[in-house]
Amino acid sequence: MTQHVTAVATQPIAGQKPGTSGLRKKTPVFMGRHYLENFIQSIFDVIGCRDENGKGKTFVLGGDGRYFNDRAAQVILRMAAANGAGRVIVGQGAILSTPAASHLIRLNKTDGGIIMSASHNPGGPHEDWGVKFNMANGGPAPEAKTEAMYQRTLEISEYRILEAQDVDLTRIGRQDLGGMIVDVVDPVADYAALMESLFDFAAIRAMFAGGFRMRMDGMCAVTGPYATEILENRLGAAPGTVVNKVPLPDFGGMHPDPNPTWAQALMDEMFADAAPDFGAASDGDGDRNMVVGAGIYVSPSDSLAVLAANAHLAPGYKAGLKGIARSMPTSAAADRVADALGIGKYETPTGWKFFGNLLDAGKATICGEESFGTGSDHVREKDGLWAVLLWLNILAVRKQSVAEILAEHWAKYGRNYYSRHDFEAIDAAKAEAMMQALRQALPALRGRKFDGMRVSTADDFAYTDPVDGSVSVKQGVRVLFQDGSRIVYRLSGTGTEGATLRVYLERYAAGPDGLDLDAQAALTPVIRAAHDMAEIAAHTGRTTPDVIT
Ligand code: G1P
Ligand code: ZN
Repeated sequence: MTQHVTAVATQPIAGQKPGTSGLRKKTPVFMGRHYLENFIQSIFDVIGCRDENGKGKTFVLGGDGRYFNDRAAQVILRMAAANGAGRVIVGQGAILSTPAASHLIRLNKTDGGIIMSASHNPGGPHEDWGVKFNMANGGPAPEAKTEAMYQRTLEISEYRILEAQDVDLTRIGRQDLGGMIVDVVDPVADYAALMESLFDFAAIRAMFAGGFRMRMDGMCAVTGPYATEILENRLGAAPGTVVNKVPLPDFGGMHPDPNPTWAQALMDEMFADAAPDFGAASDGDGDRNMVVGAGIYVSPSDSLAVLAANAHLAPGYKAGLKGIARSMPTSAAADRVADALGIGKYETPTGWKFFGNLLDAGKATICGEESFGTGSDHVREKDGLWAVLLWLNILAVRKQSVAEILAEHWAKYGRNYYSRHDFEAIDAAKAEAMMQALRQALPALRGRKFDGMRVSTADDFAYTDPVDGSVSVKQGVRVLFQDGSRIVYRLSGTGTEGATLRVYLERYAAGPDGLDLDAQAALTPVIRAAHDMAEIAAHTGRTTPDVIT
Protein backbone atom coordinates (compact mmCIF):
# COMPACT_ATOMS: atom_id res chain seq x y z
CA MET A 1 0.00 0.00 0.00
CA THR A 2 2.78 2.43 0.95
CA GLN A 3 3.86 2.95 -2.63
CA HIS A 4 0.63 4.85 -3.29
CA VAL A 5 1.07 7.20 -0.35
CA THR A 6 2.36 10.70 -0.93
CA ALA A 7 3.78 12.79 1.87
CA VAL A 8 2.92 16.35 0.87
CA ALA A 9 5.06 19.15 2.25
CA THR A 10 2.99 21.84 3.93
CA GLN A 11 3.29 24.70 6.39
CA PRO A 12 1.28 25.67 9.46
CA ILE A 13 -1.80 27.76 8.72
CA ALA A 14 -2.85 30.23 11.40
CA GLY A 15 -6.26 30.09 13.02
CA GLN A 16 -7.03 26.37 12.99
CA LYS A 17 -8.28 26.43 16.56
CA PRO A 18 -11.44 24.40 17.17
CA GLY A 19 -14.22 26.35 18.90
CA THR A 20 -17.31 25.24 20.84
CA SER A 21 -17.87 22.45 18.34
CA GLY A 22 -14.99 21.70 16.00
CA LEU A 23 -13.26 23.90 13.45
CA ARG A 24 -15.59 26.17 11.48
CA LYS A 25 -14.63 28.60 8.76
CA LYS A 26 -16.02 30.07 5.58
CA THR A 27 -16.16 27.35 2.93
CA PRO A 28 -13.59 29.02 0.62
CA VAL A 29 -11.14 29.05 3.54
CA PHE A 30 -11.47 25.29 3.96
CA MET A 31 -11.18 24.85 0.20
CA GLY A 32 -7.93 26.79 0.22
CA ARG A 33 -4.59 25.09 -0.42
CA HIS A 34 -3.76 22.47 2.24
CA TYR A 35 -6.30 23.92 4.69
CA LEU A 36 -8.48 20.83 5.11
CA GLU A 37 -5.52 18.49 4.76
CA ASN A 38 -3.50 20.24 7.47
CA PHE A 39 -6.33 20.01 9.96
CA ILE A 40 -7.22 16.39 9.16
CA GLN A 41 -3.56 15.38 9.46
CA SER A 42 -3.43 17.16 12.84
CA ILE A 43 -6.48 15.16 13.96
CA PHE A 44 -4.87 11.91 12.86
CA ASP A 45 -1.55 12.85 14.47
CA VAL A 46 -3.25 13.40 17.82
CA ILE A 47 -5.66 10.46 17.66
CA GLY A 48 -3.46 8.00 15.78
CA CYS A 49 -4.73 5.79 12.96
CA ARG A 50 -3.16 2.58 14.33
CA ASP A 51 -3.51 1.04 17.77
CA GLU A 52 -0.54 0.10 19.96
CA ASN A 53 -0.18 -3.22 18.11
CA GLY A 54 -0.01 -1.47 14.77
CA LYS A 55 -3.52 -2.55 13.78
CA GLY A 56 -5.46 -0.02 11.73
CA LYS A 57 -8.21 1.76 13.65
CA THR A 58 -11.85 2.02 12.63
CA PHE A 59 -13.54 5.38 12.20
CA VAL A 60 -16.97 6.66 11.19
CA LEU A 61 -17.32 9.43 8.61
CA GLY A 62 -20.35 11.46 7.59
CA GLY A 63 -21.88 14.88 7.56
CA ASP A 64 -24.90 17.08 7.05
CA GLY A 65 -24.83 17.13 3.25
CA ARG A 66 -23.58 20.68 2.94
CA TYR A 67 -21.57 22.03 0.02
CA PHE A 68 -18.00 20.63 -0.15
CA ASN A 69 -18.79 17.58 2.04
CA ASP A 70 -18.63 15.25 -0.97
CA ARG A 71 -15.12 16.34 -1.93
CA ALA A 72 -13.90 16.64 1.65
CA ALA A 73 -15.09 13.08 2.35
CA GLN A 74 -12.89 11.75 -0.46
CA VAL A 75 -9.88 13.65 0.88
CA ILE A 76 -10.49 12.42 4.43
CA LEU A 77 -10.84 8.83 3.22
CA ARG A 78 -7.60 9.00 1.23
CA MET A 79 -5.80 10.54 4.20
CA ALA A 80 -7.21 7.92 6.60
CA ALA A 81 -5.93 5.18 4.29
CA ALA A 82 -2.54 6.86 3.97
CA ASN A 83 -2.23 7.18 7.74
CA GLY A 84 -2.92 3.51 8.28
CA ALA A 85 -6.57 3.36 9.35
CA GLY A 86 -8.05 -0.11 8.90
CA ARG A 87 -11.67 0.66 8.19
CA VAL A 88 -13.99 3.62 7.77
CA ILE A 89 -17.77 3.37 8.02
CA VAL A 90 -19.33 6.10 5.85
CA GLY A 91 -22.94 7.12 5.52
CA GLN A 92 -24.23 6.70 1.97
CA GLY A 93 -23.66 9.94 0.07
CA ALA A 94 -21.39 11.02 2.96
CA ILE A 95 -24.61 11.69 4.89
CA LEU A 96 -24.87 11.12 8.63
CA SER A 97 -26.67 13.31 11.11
CA THR A 98 -24.49 14.14 14.09
CA PRO A 99 -26.51 11.94 16.49
CA ALA A 100 -26.54 9.10 13.96
CA ALA A 101 -22.76 9.39 13.62
CA SER A 102 -22.42 9.28 17.40
CA HIS A 103 -24.59 6.17 17.46
CA LEU A 104 -22.58 4.41 14.73
CA ILE A 105 -19.33 5.15 16.56
CA ARG A 106 -20.74 3.45 19.66
CA LEU A 107 -22.68 0.66 17.98
CA ASN A 108 -19.66 -0.54 16.00
CA LYS A 109 -17.24 -0.01 18.91
CA THR A 110 -15.06 2.13 16.67
CA ASP A 111 -12.18 4.41 17.60
CA GLY A 112 -14.12 7.58 16.87
CA GLY A 113 -15.41 9.52 13.91
CA ILE A 114 -15.14 12.60 11.79
CA ILE A 115 -18.25 14.72 11.28
CA MET A 116 -18.36 17.25 8.47
CA SER A 117 -20.75 19.97 9.52
CA ALA A 118 -21.02 23.57 10.57
CA SER A 119 -24.25 22.61 12.34
CA HIS A 120 -26.84 25.41 12.13
CA ASN A 121 -24.63 27.78 10.15
CA PRO A 122 -25.74 28.28 6.53
CA GLY A 123 -23.95 26.21 3.90
CA GLY A 124 -22.81 26.86 0.34
CA PRO A 125 -19.81 28.09 -1.63
CA HIS A 126 -19.77 31.37 0.29
CA GLU A 127 -21.18 30.20 3.61
CA ASP A 128 -19.75 27.97 6.32
CA TRP A 129 -18.04 24.63 6.52
CA GLY A 130 -16.79 22.71 9.52
CA VAL A 131 -15.33 19.47 10.78
CA LYS A 132 -14.89 17.85 14.16
CA PHE A 133 -13.62 14.66 15.70
CA ASN A 134 -15.69 12.53 18.06
CA MET A 135 -14.09 10.06 20.42
CA ALA A 136 -14.76 6.33 20.83
CA ASN A 137 -17.55 7.11 23.32
CA GLY A 138 -19.36 8.91 20.48
CA GLY A 139 -18.91 12.36 21.99
CA PRO A 140 -17.01 15.44 20.81
CA ALA A 141 -13.31 15.43 21.57
CA PRO A 142 -12.64 17.07 24.93
CA GLU A 143 -10.72 20.34 25.18
CA ALA A 144 -7.38 18.66 25.90
CA LYS A 145 -7.64 16.84 22.55
CA THR A 146 -8.87 19.79 20.50
CA GLU A 147 -6.11 21.90 22.00
CA ALA A 148 -3.55 19.24 21.08
CA MET A 149 -4.93 19.22 17.51
CA TYR A 150 -4.58 22.98 17.38
CA GLN A 151 -1.00 22.81 18.64
CA ARG A 152 -0.29 20.23 15.97
CA THR A 153 -1.57 22.59 13.25
CA LEU A 154 1.06 25.08 14.38
CA GLU A 155 3.96 22.74 13.74
CA ILE A 156 2.79 20.57 10.86
CA SER A 157 5.22 20.10 7.99
CA GLU A 158 3.63 17.36 5.91
CA TYR A 159 0.45 15.38 5.45
CA ARG A 160 -0.06 11.92 4.05
CA ILE A 161 -2.53 11.13 1.31
CA LEU A 162 -3.18 8.12 -0.86
CA GLU A 163 -3.08 8.41 -4.62
CA ALA A 164 -6.35 6.78 -5.65
CA GLN A 165 -9.65 7.32 -7.41
CA ASP A 166 -12.77 8.39 -5.52
CA VAL A 167 -14.66 5.84 -3.49
CA ASP A 168 -18.21 5.35 -4.78
CA LEU A 169 -20.18 6.72 -1.87
CA THR A 170 -23.52 6.24 -3.61
CA ARG A 171 -23.23 2.45 -3.36
CA ILE A 172 -24.00 0.68 -0.07
CA GLY A 173 -21.50 -2.07 0.64
CA ARG A 174 -17.80 -2.75 1.10
CA GLN A 175 -15.01 -1.28 -1.02
CA ASP A 176 -11.25 -1.23 -0.79
CA LEU A 177 -9.17 1.91 -0.69
CA GLY A 178 -5.47 1.09 -0.79
CA GLY A 179 -5.88 -1.72 1.72
CA MET A 180 -8.33 0.16 3.95
CA ILE A 181 -11.90 -1.09 4.12
CA VAL A 182 -14.61 1.43 3.33
CA ASP A 183 -18.09 0.35 4.40
CA VAL A 184 -20.80 2.55 2.93
CA VAL A 185 -23.92 2.16 5.08
CA ASP A 186 -27.54 3.29 5.09
CA PRO A 187 -27.35 6.48 7.18
CA VAL A 188 -30.83 6.04 8.67
CA ALA A 189 -31.40 2.34 9.49
CA ASP A 190 -29.37 1.90 12.69
CA TYR A 191 -30.49 5.22 14.08
CA ALA A 192 -34.16 4.45 13.42
CA ALA A 193 -33.76 1.09 15.19
CA LEU A 194 -32.26 2.86 18.19
CA MET A 195 -35.24 5.23 18.37
CA GLU A 196 -37.61 2.29 18.12
CA SER A 197 -35.88 0.71 21.13
CA LEU A 198 -36.36 3.83 23.27
CA PHE A 199 -39.89 4.96 22.50
CA ASP A 200 -43.37 3.51 22.50
CA PHE A 201 -43.86 3.44 18.74
CA ALA A 202 -47.21 1.62 19.08
CA ALA A 203 -48.66 4.40 21.26
CA ILE A 204 -47.35 7.12 18.93
CA ARG A 205 -48.66 5.23 15.90
CA ALA A 206 -52.10 5.00 17.53
CA MET A 207 -52.02 8.74 18.20
CA PHE A 208 -51.30 9.50 14.54
CA ALA A 209 -53.95 6.99 13.46
CA GLY A 210 -56.40 8.88 15.70
CA GLY A 211 -55.91 12.06 13.65
CA PHE A 212 -53.01 13.76 15.46
CA ARG A 213 -51.42 16.21 13.05
CA MET A 214 -47.81 17.25 12.99
CA ARG A 215 -45.47 19.43 10.93
CA MET A 216 -41.77 18.65 10.91
CA ASP A 217 -39.49 21.12 9.12
CA GLY A 218 -36.27 19.48 7.91
CA MET A 219 -34.97 22.89 6.79
CA CYS A 220 -33.45 21.26 3.66
CA ALA A 221 -30.81 19.76 5.94
CA VAL A 222 -29.87 16.32 7.18
CA THR A 223 -32.92 15.46 9.30
CA GLY A 224 -35.29 15.05 6.35
CA PRO A 225 -34.47 11.42 5.51
CA TYR A 226 -34.47 10.41 9.18
CA ALA A 227 -37.75 12.16 9.97
CA THR A 228 -39.45 10.83 6.84
CA GLU A 229 -38.47 7.24 7.62
CA ILE A 230 -39.39 7.41 11.30
CA LEU A 231 -42.42 9.71 11.36
CA GLU A 232 -44.09 8.94 8.05
CA ASN A 233 -42.96 5.38 7.25
CA ARG A 234 -42.74 3.82 10.70
CA LEU A 235 -45.16 5.89 12.79
CA GLY A 236 -47.81 6.51 10.16
CA ALA A 237 -47.81 10.31 10.22
CA ALA A 238 -49.61 11.67 7.17
CA PRO A 239 -47.48 11.90 4.03
CA GLY A 240 -46.25 15.47 3.79
CA THR A 241 -45.81 15.80 7.57
CA VAL A 242 -42.11 16.37 6.91
CA VAL A 243 -41.42 19.44 4.79
CA ASN A 244 -38.12 20.67 3.31
CA LYS A 245 -37.04 17.08 3.60
CA VAL A 246 -34.35 16.73 0.96
CA PRO A 247 -30.88 17.71 2.19
CA LEU A 248 -29.46 20.28 -0.23
CA PRO A 249 -25.82 21.49 -0.42
CA ASP A 250 -26.90 25.06 0.34
CA PHE A 251 -29.90 24.04 2.50
CA GLY A 252 -32.08 25.63 -0.16
CA GLY A 253 -30.74 29.01 0.94
CA MET A 254 -32.30 28.49 4.37
CA HIS A 255 -30.52 29.23 7.61
CA PRO A 256 -30.91 25.77 9.13
CA ASP A 257 -31.24 26.89 12.73
CA PRO A 258 -34.48 25.78 14.37
CA ASN A 259 -35.56 28.86 16.28
CA PRO A 260 -38.53 31.20 15.93
CA THR A 261 -36.53 33.58 13.73
CA TRP A 262 -35.15 31.11 11.22
CA ALA A 263 -38.03 28.61 11.27
CA GLN A 264 -40.57 31.32 10.76
CA ALA A 265 -42.75 29.42 8.31
CA LEU A 266 -43.25 26.73 10.93
CA MET A 267 -44.02 29.30 13.61
CA ASP A 268 -46.59 30.99 11.34
CA GLU A 269 -48.28 27.66 10.71
CA MET A 270 -48.33 26.74 14.40
CA PHE A 271 -49.89 30.05 15.38
CA ALA A 272 -52.49 30.09 12.58
CA ASP A 273 -56.09 28.87 12.82
CA ALA A 274 -56.29 25.12 12.34
CA ALA A 275 -52.67 24.72 13.35
CA PRO A 276 -51.39 21.14 13.60
CA ASP A 277 -51.18 19.65 17.11
CA PHE A 278 -47.41 19.63 17.16
CA GLY A 279 -44.60 21.26 15.23
CA ALA A 280 -40.88 20.69 15.23
CA ALA A 281 -37.75 21.63 13.33
CA SER A 282 -34.16 20.50 13.32
CA ASP A 283 -30.87 22.07 12.30
CA GLY A 284 -28.23 21.45 9.64
CA ASP A 285 -26.75 18.33 11.22
CA GLY A 286 -29.82 17.13 13.10
CA ASP A 287 -28.70 17.62 16.67
CA ARG A 288 -30.86 20.65 17.51
CA ASN A 289 -34.62 20.78 17.87
CA MET A 290 -37.36 23.32 18.31
CA VAL A 291 -40.79 22.14 19.44
CA VAL A 292 -44.00 24.12 19.16
CA GLY A 293 -47.54 23.32 20.20
CA ALA A 294 -50.66 24.71 18.52
CA GLY A 295 -50.44 28.39 19.47
CA ILE A 296 -47.64 27.90 21.98
CA TYR A 297 -43.85 28.04 21.69
CA VAL A 298 -41.82 25.79 23.99
CA SER A 299 -38.55 27.38 25.07
CA PRO A 300 -35.66 24.91 24.99
CA SER A 301 -35.08 25.33 28.72
CA ASP A 302 -38.72 24.47 29.41
CA SER A 303 -38.56 21.61 26.94
CA LEU A 304 -35.64 20.10 28.85
CA ALA A 305 -37.55 20.39 32.13
CA VAL A 306 -40.74 18.86 30.71
CA LEU A 307 -38.85 16.01 29.02
CA ALA A 308 -36.99 15.25 32.24
CA ALA A 309 -40.16 15.32 34.32
CA ASN A 310 -41.96 12.96 31.93
CA ALA A 311 -39.20 10.78 30.54
CA HIS A 312 -40.33 7.79 32.60
CA LEU A 313 -43.37 7.57 30.31
CA ALA A 314 -41.09 6.30 27.51
CA PRO A 315 -39.92 2.66 27.67
CA GLY A 316 -36.24 3.59 27.38
CA TYR A 317 -36.42 5.69 30.56
CA LYS A 318 -39.03 3.85 32.61
CA ALA A 319 -36.47 3.07 35.31
CA GLY A 320 -36.12 6.81 35.92
CA LEU A 321 -33.26 9.23 35.46
CA LYS A 322 -29.90 9.18 37.20
CA GLY A 323 -29.46 12.91 36.99
CA ILE A 324 -30.08 15.98 34.85
CA ALA A 325 -27.36 18.18 33.40
CA ARG A 326 -27.76 21.59 31.80
CA SER A 327 -25.36 24.16 30.47
CA MET A 328 -24.86 27.15 32.73
CA PRO A 329 -26.78 29.65 30.55
CA THR A 330 -29.78 27.28 30.37
CA SER A 331 -32.58 28.22 32.76
CA ALA A 332 -32.87 26.56 36.15
CA ALA A 333 -36.25 24.99 35.27
CA ALA A 334 -34.60 21.56 34.94
CA ASP A 335 -32.98 21.95 38.37
CA ARG A 336 -36.44 22.16 39.93
CA VAL A 337 -37.36 18.86 38.31
CA ALA A 338 -34.14 17.24 39.55
CA ASP A 339 -34.86 18.49 43.07
CA ALA A 340 -38.41 17.14 42.94
CA LEU A 341 -37.17 13.77 41.70
CA GLY A 342 -34.38 13.72 44.28
CA ILE A 343 -31.71 13.14 41.63
CA GLY A 344 -28.41 14.85 40.80
CA LYS A 345 -28.28 18.14 38.91
CA TYR A 346 -25.24 19.47 37.08
CA GLU A 347 -24.37 22.88 35.61
CA THR A 348 -21.72 22.72 32.89
CA PRO A 349 -20.09 25.24 30.52
CA THR A 350 -21.65 25.77 27.10
CA GLY A 351 -20.96 22.98 24.61
CA TRP A 352 -22.08 19.36 24.48
CA LYS A 353 -18.59 18.04 25.13
CA PHE A 354 -18.96 18.89 28.80
CA PHE A 355 -21.82 16.41 29.19
CA GLY A 356 -19.78 13.42 27.98
CA ASN A 357 -18.09 12.59 31.27
CA LEU A 358 -21.34 12.89 33.23
CA LEU A 359 -23.09 10.54 30.80
CA ASP A 360 -20.20 8.06 30.70
CA ALA A 361 -20.00 8.02 34.49
CA GLY A 362 -23.73 7.39 34.82
CA LYS A 363 -24.26 10.63 36.75
CA ALA A 364 -26.71 12.14 34.26
CA THR A 365 -29.26 10.56 31.93
CA ILE A 366 -30.73 13.65 30.29
CA CYS A 367 -28.88 16.82 29.26
CA GLY A 368 -29.86 20.07 27.66
CA GLU A 369 -28.82 23.48 26.46
CA GLU A 370 -30.89 26.60 25.93
CA SER A 371 -29.59 26.65 22.35
CA PHE A 372 -32.20 24.10 21.22
CA GLY A 373 -30.15 21.10 22.29
CA THR A 374 -31.52 18.15 24.22
CA GLY A 375 -30.33 14.60 24.47
CA SER A 376 -29.67 11.61 26.68
CA ASP A 377 -27.23 8.82 27.33
CA HIS A 378 -28.41 6.93 24.19
CA VAL A 379 -25.65 8.74 22.23
CA ARG A 380 -23.02 11.34 23.16
CA GLU A 381 -24.41 14.24 21.14
CA LYS A 382 -27.55 16.23 21.44
CA ASP A 383 -30.27 14.73 19.30
CA GLY A 384 -33.03 16.70 17.62
CA LEU A 385 -35.24 13.86 16.49
CA TRP A 386 -34.83 12.09 19.82
CA ALA A 387 -36.33 15.12 21.59
CA VAL A 388 -39.19 15.26 19.08
CA LEU A 389 -39.93 11.56 19.59
CA LEU A 390 -39.82 11.86 23.38
CA TRP A 391 -42.32 14.70 23.15
CA LEU A 392 -44.52 12.56 20.89
CA ASN A 393 -44.28 9.67 23.34
CA ILE A 394 -45.31 11.95 26.21
CA LEU A 395 -48.18 13.44 24.20
CA ALA A 396 -49.35 9.94 23.26
CA VAL A 397 -49.38 8.73 26.86
CA ARG A 398 -50.74 11.84 28.56
CA LYS A 399 -53.29 12.53 25.82
CA GLN A 400 -53.06 16.27 26.50
CA SER A 401 -52.05 19.19 24.33
CA VAL A 402 -48.62 20.83 24.51
CA ALA A 403 -50.28 23.89 26.09
CA GLU A 404 -51.93 21.78 28.79
CA ILE A 405 -48.71 19.97 29.58
CA LEU A 406 -46.78 23.24 29.91
CA ALA A 407 -49.50 24.83 32.08
CA GLU A 408 -49.47 21.87 34.46
CA HIS A 409 -45.68 21.91 34.56
CA TRP A 410 -45.53 25.60 35.49
CA ALA A 411 -48.31 25.20 38.05
CA LYS A 412 -46.27 22.52 39.76
CA TYR A 413 -42.74 23.93 39.52
CA GLY A 414 -43.23 27.64 38.87
CA ARG A 415 -42.02 29.22 35.65
CA ASN A 416 -38.54 30.35 34.70
CA TYR A 417 -39.21 33.06 32.13
CA TYR A 418 -36.30 32.92 29.76
CA SER A 419 -34.89 34.48 26.64
CA ARG A 420 -31.60 34.83 24.80
CA HIS A 421 -30.70 38.01 22.92
CA ASP A 422 -27.97 37.72 20.29
CA PHE A 423 -26.02 40.66 18.91
CA GLU A 424 -24.32 39.34 15.79
CA ALA A 425 -21.28 40.32 13.73
CA ILE A 426 -20.02 42.84 16.26
CA ASP A 427 -16.49 44.08 15.85
CA ALA A 428 -14.49 41.44 17.73
CA ALA A 429 -12.24 43.92 19.54
CA LYS A 430 -15.23 45.90 20.79
CA ALA A 431 -16.97 42.78 22.02
CA GLU A 432 -13.83 41.66 23.85
CA ALA A 433 -13.45 45.11 25.38
CA MET A 434 -17.02 44.99 26.65
CA MET A 435 -16.48 41.57 28.25
CA GLN A 436 -13.23 42.77 29.74
CA ALA A 437 -14.85 45.84 31.26
CA LEU A 438 -17.65 43.70 32.61
CA ARG A 439 -15.24 41.29 34.23
CA GLN A 440 -13.42 44.16 35.89
CA ALA A 441 -16.70 45.60 37.15
CA LEU A 442 -17.81 42.33 38.75
CA PRO A 443 -16.68 43.02 42.35
CA ALA A 444 -18.37 46.42 42.30
CA LEU A 445 -21.63 44.99 40.99
CA ARG A 446 -22.49 43.08 44.12
CA GLY A 447 -25.19 44.84 46.10
CA ARG A 448 -25.96 47.31 43.30
CA LYS A 449 -29.58 47.85 42.37
CA PHE A 450 -30.97 47.81 38.82
CA ASP A 451 -34.64 48.54 38.32
CA GLY A 452 -35.37 47.63 41.93
CA MET A 453 -33.50 44.30 41.60
CA ARG A 454 -30.44 43.91 43.80
CA VAL A 455 -27.37 41.96 42.60
CA SER A 456 -26.54 39.14 44.98
CA THR A 457 -23.51 37.60 43.25
CA ALA A 458 -21.59 38.19 40.05
CA ASP A 459 -18.77 36.03 38.70
CA ASP A 460 -17.06 34.56 35.66
CA PHE A 461 -18.20 30.96 35.50
CA ALA A 462 -15.53 28.32 36.08
CA TYR A 463 -16.21 24.60 36.00
CA THR A 464 -14.45 21.69 37.59
CA ASP A 465 -15.46 18.44 35.93
CA PRO A 466 -16.70 16.17 38.74
CA VAL A 467 -15.41 13.08 36.91
CA ASP A 468 -11.89 13.93 35.75
CA GLY A 469 -11.24 17.09 37.73
CA SER A 470 -10.38 19.17 34.65
CA VAL A 471 -11.00 22.88 35.06
CA SER A 472 -12.49 25.26 32.45
CA VAL A 473 -12.39 28.95 33.24
CA LYS A 474 -13.90 32.12 31.73
CA GLN A 475 -17.06 30.36 30.61
CA GLY A 476 -19.38 33.37 30.84
CA VAL A 477 -20.11 36.27 33.13
CA ARG A 478 -23.16 35.69 35.29
CA VAL A 479 -25.00 38.11 37.45
CA LEU A 480 -27.52 36.79 39.95
CA PHE A 481 -30.15 38.94 41.61
CA GLN A 482 -31.68 38.48 45.03
CA ASP A 483 -35.11 37.81 43.52
CA GLY A 484 -33.74 34.82 41.58
CA SER A 485 -33.41 36.68 38.27
CA ARG A 486 -30.21 36.16 36.32
CA ILE A 487 -28.23 37.65 33.44
CA VAL A 488 -25.43 35.80 31.65
CA TYR A 489 -23.08 37.29 29.07
CA ARG A 490 -20.77 35.34 26.81
CA LEU A 491 -19.26 35.52 23.36
CA SER A 492 -20.11 32.80 20.88
CA GLY A 493 -17.47 30.21 20.10
CA THR A 494 -19.05 28.98 16.88
CA GLY A 495 -19.31 32.12 14.74
CA THR A 496 -17.16 32.71 11.70
CA GLU A 497 -17.57 36.49 11.33
CA GLY A 498 -16.71 39.09 13.97
CA ALA A 499 -18.13 38.35 17.40
CA THR A 500 -21.59 37.36 18.55
CA LEU A 501 -22.60 38.55 21.99
CA ARG A 502 -25.13 36.32 23.70
CA VAL A 503 -27.12 37.75 26.59
CA TYR A 504 -29.17 35.20 28.51
CA LEU A 505 -32.06 36.50 30.59
CA GLU A 506 -34.05 34.72 33.24
CA ARG A 507 -36.69 35.53 35.84
CA TYR A 508 -38.52 33.13 38.10
CA ALA A 509 -42.25 33.30 38.91
CA ALA A 510 -43.38 30.90 41.63
CA GLY A 511 -47.09 31.19 40.73
CA PRO A 512 -49.95 30.59 41.03
CA ASP A 513 -50.38 34.05 39.48
CA GLY A 514 -48.30 35.46 36.67
CA LEU A 515 -47.51 32.19 34.95
CA ASP A 516 -48.86 33.04 31.50
CA LEU A 517 -47.14 36.28 30.56
CA ASP A 518 -45.31 36.89 27.33
CA ALA A 519 -41.65 36.07 28.05
CA GLN A 520 -40.23 39.34 26.68
CA ALA A 521 -42.75 41.34 28.72
CA ALA A 522 -42.01 39.37 31.88
CA LEU A 523 -38.29 39.96 31.35
CA THR A 524 -38.46 43.72 30.66
CA PRO A 525 -36.63 44.85 33.83
CA VAL A 526 -34.00 42.15 33.42
CA ILE A 527 -33.41 43.20 29.80
CA ARG A 528 -33.01 46.85 30.86
CA ALA A 529 -30.59 45.86 33.59
CA ALA A 530 -28.58 43.79 31.12
CA HIS A 531 -28.10 46.80 28.83
CA ASP A 532 -27.29 49.23 31.67
CA MET A 533 -24.85 46.99 33.47
CA ALA A 534 -22.73 46.02 30.48
CA GLU A 535 -23.17 49.31 28.60
CA ILE A 536 -23.87 47.30 25.49
CA ALA A 537 -24.74 50.32 23.36
CA ALA A 538 -21.67 52.30 24.39
CA HIS A 539 -19.33 49.41 23.65
CA THR A 540 -20.91 47.93 20.54
CA GLY A 541 -23.20 50.59 19.15
CA ARG A 542 -26.10 48.13 19.35
CA THR A 543 -29.34 48.77 21.15
CA THR A 544 -31.46 45.90 19.81
CA PRO A 545 -30.57 42.25 19.32
CA ASP A 546 -30.46 40.60 15.89
CA VAL A 547 -32.02 37.36 17.09
CA ILE A 548 -34.31 36.77 20.05
CA THR A 549 -35.03 33.23 21.15
C1 G1P B 1 -23.63 27.47 20.33
C2 G1P B 1 -24.59 27.26 21.47
C3 G1P B 1 -24.13 26.12 22.34
C4 G1P B 1 -23.97 24.87 21.48
C5 G1P B 1 -23.07 25.16 20.30
C6 G1P B 1 -23.00 23.99 19.34
O1 G1P B 1 -22.36 27.78 20.83
O2 G1P B 1 -24.73 28.43 22.24
O3 G1P B 1 -25.05 25.90 23.37
O4 G1P B 1 -23.44 23.82 22.23
O5 G1P B 1 -23.55 26.28 19.58
O6 G1P B 1 -24.24 23.67 18.82
P1 G1P B 1 -21.81 29.29 20.93
O7 G1P B 1 -21.93 29.89 19.56
O8 G1P B 1 -22.72 30.00 21.89
O9 G1P B 1 -20.41 29.15 21.43
ZN1 ZN C 1 -26.13 21.17 15.07
